[in-house]
Amino acid sequence: MIMPIIETERLILRAPRAQDAEPIAHYLNDFDVAGNLARVPHPYYLSDAEAWIRTRHADVEVDDANFSIDLKGAGYAGHIGFHPGLDGPVIGYWLGKPFWGRGIMTEAVIAALDWFFATSRAPIVYSGVFHFNRASLAIQEKLGFTQTGRSQLLCLAREAEVEHIDTQLTLGVWKARRT
Ligand SMILES: CC(C)(COP(=O)(O)OP(=O)(O)OC[C@H]1O[C@@H](n2cnc3c(N)ncnc32)[C@H](O)[C@@H]1OP(=O)(O)O)[C@@H](O)C(=O)NCCC(=O)NCCS
Repeated sequence: MIMPIIETERLILRAPRAQDAEPIAHYLNDFDVAGNLARVPHPYYLSDAEAWIRTRHADVEVDDANFSIDLKGAGYAGHIGFHPGLDGPVIGYWLGKPFWGRGIMTEAVIAALDWFFATSRAPIVYSGVFHFNRASLAIQEKLGFTQTGRSQLLCLAREAEVEHIDTQLTLGVWKARRT
């Protein structure tokens, strides 16, 4: 699949490109961001961002699609993407701190899930949050994700296992929400 460009009222979701490395490194090298993510080390360097972007290809599987989030008029703001987990596709996301608290990620998650469920055959999308991440849990619960349990997940930035609230969203709930 060739990565699509998804446009919303305030955002453009598009394939990551080499020029994103600098803002990615800038915004991800922030413990308040990385400490809420499982797989981002701290500190986080430009070379980490460049290496990650090199793993992204124009032609990817739907459940491996990663989008850079551009805020119209402002430029690179963060990231939203899918990766294949043990049970099925997993959605993850982050936003540079200057962009928090304006409903931007809610807008991005809705757009990404609309695209994903329309494109993939997956009946469920998995996600979750570290137990202290109230903002991310608020986004997920407001969009129809339900809590399915707790697990321990390694947080690279914290160099520790952290209690994780596991969540999932079914296609049925998403369709019902959209009609
Ligand atoms: C989590 C994150 C993506 C939120 O992005 P955002 O654009 O600020 O989120 P939104 O504004 O769309 O929505 C946040 C919701 O959480 C709520 N919220 C924010 N802080 C909260 C808190 N401390 N307690 C409870 N709810 C909170 C907001 O009120 C909002 O809900 P509402 O729309 O019903 O009012 C952003 O803070 C971030 O990137 N954090 C670091 C990385 C991260 O946590 N990624 C997700 C990992 S699971």
